[in-house]
Amino acid sequence: MAEKREHWGSKFGFILAAAGSAIGLGNIWKFPYIAGENGGAAFVVVYLICIAIIGLPVLIAEILMGRSTQRNPVGAFKKLSGSPFWTVVGGMGVLAGFIILSFYSVVAGWSLGYIFESIRGAFSNFTTATASGDHFNMLTSKLSWIIGFHGLFFLITICVVYAGVNKGIERGSKIMMPILVFLLVILLIRGLTLPGSNEGLRFLLYPDWSKISGQAVLIALGHAFFTLSLGMGAMMTYGSYMSDKDSIPGAALQIVLLDTVIALLAGLAIFSAVFATGQDPAAGPGLIFHTLPVVFAKIPGGHIFAFLFFLLLTIAALTSAISLLEVVVAFFVDERGWKRHQAVLVFGSVTFLLGIPSALSYNIMINVQIFGMTFFDLADFLASNILLPLGGFCISIFVAWIWGVDRALVKLKNGAEQFFENYQWRVTAWRFFLKYLSPVLIFIVLLQSMGLLTRIIDWITK
Ligand code: PHE
Repeated sequence: MAEKREHWGSKFGFILAAAGSAIGLGNIWKFPYIAGENGGAAFVVVYLICIAIIGLPVLIAEILMGRSTQRNPVGAFKKLSGSPFWTVVGGMGVLAGFIILSFYSVVAGWSLGYIFESIRGAFSNFTTATASGDHFNMLTSKLSWIIGFHGLFFLITICVVYAGVNKGIERGSKIMMPILVFLLVILLIRGLTLPGSNEGLRFLLYPDWSKISGQAVLIALGHAFFTLSLGMGAMMTYGSYMSDKDSIPGAALQIVLLDTVIALLAGLAIFSAVFATGQDPAAGPGLIFHTLPVVFAKIPGGHIFAFLFFLLLTIAALTSAISLLEVVVAFFVDERGWKRHQAVLVFGSVTFLLGIPSALSYNIMINVQIFGMTFFDLADFLASNILLPLGGFCISIFVAWIWGVDRALVKLKNGAEQFFENYQWRVTAWRFFLKYLSPVLIFIVLLQSMGLLTRIIDWITK
């Protein structure tokens, strides 16, 4: 059969790799703009609640399934249930991995391209977001630029995963994560020391409850999944390289804290600079690629900060892309007996090709619409709004009701004996959240994503 399974060199190595998976475009690109569009601080509060009551319990469940079975998502469900139905749920995770990575690497490619743009000082004379938006459109209309950077980003991802769990992913995370934190701190200090940055702080820290809508709550919950890499088995796969000695609740808590703190700091750095330079905080997905270059053009030393920012964004995206590719690779190694190197090269290339239509959605395929969406938007919608919440729903139902929360707790106790002794109430809370709260809330999000909820509410209130 397959080669011997690798394990993380240390618990710290696991935490950094898993935090690397969690911290990505979701934290630095998506979180600030959805917070900006949905009213700032009030949205942040709702998001934090979602992370605590749904994200954390499901994260623990996922890592536990991986560690207990020492398998990829398909193998994990197969081993614990023996039923083809649940095995399909694992397969859905692998599929989601393919899809997310295909469009994720397109945005990561833009970010990589923007590192070079900042080096050559391309942003220095932008005065309006329109000018900077035009520049973005000009770049993404060049086939060589868009496919080239998408490909380059893929190549780097493939190299890290190719080197293996210890020598590639763990070592890469140990180098990249401290750099990421360092870059973010520099950018934060720059943002907060700009005159007029207080407005940005106020925007992100003082809630205005009138701004919160039902839709915002659903977005917050959906994002909790995306940002913690939940619902498709990335954390399960990383958990499968863990040994029984390490505490899962402790590690999960640290991963969630790191992910949340980084998202908030990125939000603070970005909004303080956005407000200080009088830009629009609610610019949507274009906030990073349209609005920020103008901000960099306006602040002293913007040239260097632009470079540091896009380096930060690219590193964050890389440590997440690695985990996405690893899910697919682990599946082919565990279940199909492929050699790791072979799986990385074949599926790295396949996913790169799958990403090309997404990359072209900003180019020659801009008018190709499927269900009223471009290929890029469709891939994003399918993965983030359907596959991830559906996966999260199935994982919590599976661990709580099929595998059984009591059996799961016996396994969870390994390596966490002290936690169980000192924090019995947290164990009780986990059981309750996973059995009742998470499935119900996720189910609601899922209905909404499919547009069903609004139809049901219309029907009831008619
Ligand atoms: N968590 C990553 C981010 O915030 C995205 C991701 C989702 C990575 C699912 C792996 C699996 O950008």
